[in-house]
Amino acid sequence: MRYLVFTDIHGNMEAFHAVLKFIQKKRIDHYLCLGDLVGYGASPNEVVQKVLTLRPLSIVRGNHDKAVSGLDSVQTFNPIAASAIYWTKGHITKKNFDFLYRLQKSPEIVHETITICHGAPFDEDYYIFGEFDAAEAFGYFQTPICFFGHTHFPFVYSEKDQAVEGTFLEGNSNEVKLEKGVRYLINPGSVGQPRDRNARAAFAVYDSDARTVKFFRVEYDVAEAKKKILDEKLPSALAERLSLGI
Ligand SMILES: [Fe+2]
Repeated sequence: MRYLVFTDIHGNMEAFHAVLKFIQKKRIDHYLCLGDLVGYGASPNEVVQKVLTLRPLSIVRGNHDKAVSGLDSVQTFNPIAASAIYWTKGHITKKNFDFLYRLQKSPEIVHETITICHGAPFDEDYYIFGEFDAAEAFGYFQTPICFFGHTHFPFVYSEKDQAVEGTFLEGNSNEVKLEKGVRYLINPGSVGQPRDRNARAAFAVYDSDARTVKFFRVEYDVAEAKKKILDEKLPSALAERLSLGI
């Protein structure tokens, strides 16, 4: 089985479109979405509608999805993120609002072998930053592999005999071979707002037969995504950071 694992699109339709175009010629059996479809970017409705057409095998909510649909307080967000939440609340259609409101809380188990979550398997809003966090997270899922998002950094943590090792996936394409007897916590990176100083949209393809996870970065129309943000009078910092990948 080949799974497209994607997360943190954040209302960036240009980035999401580039990802879907890139995988068009690849065989994808299932889609796994780890949340944060909206927030920051200027195309929340387009992104939600596109995700719906993919019929993901599993999809969980992110903190921005919760805030937009009123399930979480906007007060936990910094002023720039909060203003994007308010803008999104004012522009999301009723149908898409209902969809965000009903998204599942993570973790979710898929095909008995994969756990997915937004932040961490023990707390959907927690940021896994570093091996200490990862070591704790390994205690909260039983499957050989867990995919997470939220930090916007492509990262692999492996656990063997209680030892945890983290690797940042640098560059525009990487392949991780999954070893028997090793468990993995994997972040595919963010589609719509990468923060690792690489502006390209990030995602991963997990091949359960080949036992590989391939990480990709694709270029997209950053100028158009920025223009839409500025046209909507969203904070200009949200446009600027897209070209910098921060
Ligand atoms: Fe996010």
